[in-house]
Amino acid sequence: MPALLEVEGLGIGFGGVQAVQGVSLSLEAGEILALIGPNGAGKTTVFNCISGIYRAQAGDIRLGGRSLLGLPPHRVAAAGLARTFQNIELFHHLSTMDNLLLGRHRFMRSGVLGGMALFGPRSPAAREEMQHREKVEEIIDFLELQAVRSKPVGSLPYGTRKIVELGRALAMEPQVLLLDEPAAGMNLEEKQDLRLWIEDIVARFGVAVLLIEHDMPFVGDLADRVIALNHGVKIAEGSPEAVRTHPEVLRAYLGADAA
Ligand SMILES: Nc1ncnc2c1ncn2[C@@H]1O[C@H](COP(=O)(O)OP(=O)(O)O)[C@@H](O)[C@H]1O
Ligand SMILES: [Mg+2]
Repeated sequence: MPALLEVEGLGIGFGGVQAVQGVSLSLEAGEILALIGPNGAGKTTVFNCISGIYRAQAGDIRLGGRSLLGLPPHRVAAAGLARTFQNIELFHHLSTMDNLLLGRHRFMRSGVLGGMALFGPRSPAAREEMQHREKVEEIIDFLELQAVRSKPVGSLPYGTRKIVELGRALAMEPQVLLLDEPAAGMNLEEKQDLRLWIEDIVARFGVAVLLIEHDMPFVGDLADRVIALNHGVKIAEGSPEAVRTHPEVLRAYLGADAA
């Protein structure tokens, strides 16, 4: 049986810079794998290749045994992969509810929101919209976003926006969830909530989570396994403790501090 997500010998460069080289990883359903490494190590680039934003120049990426190579982002999403972004990508003038509904887009046969208004309350489009709203309501309850459901996302505190973005990814009902620095900028209490939610998401839905994170205590509590990158290359893989104390990893972070 192949792993749920398999990345094999991934490589990509920009101009003269080899951003990622020969990176392999695999992820099983129900597993949490963390990607760490100093700034510029290539972590986000790995995510951009997996999610179809960049086209890998070497290697292969498979989800459930099927290659994702060359698929545009919406096809990768439809195959069962959702992600969040280091810099949060939401529609700031839209409400929490509407941002989450947009996460349902891949399931929408009618193709448009507002089927109720267009075709009347008993139309198939309206029924479909109701089902999407119910699904989104479940996520709003789960992530405790009730108080901000109607607020424009741009008016929310940073930590809350990050949770809304997680909610939108969940609304896509992914098999694999990629989280780019989900805890960055959060206070301790928000981080604790986030950790419990991620654990719950994995336990409830059997989702596989690949996350980029700098907060080592957070990674140590959450991740089953850790991979460290430096200069686009994998330098260590293993338990959080083994990777955190790996000589190459310590050297990479010291080098980054000195730079
Ligand atoms: N679109 C791009 N154009 C040029 N260089 C890029 C692009 N995307 C990433 N890079 C380069 O790839 C390297 C890795 O970046 P990134 O993956 O964002 O690192 P990390 O997420 O680990 O901090 C950096 O040197 C960065 O400048
Ligand atoms: Mg990054």
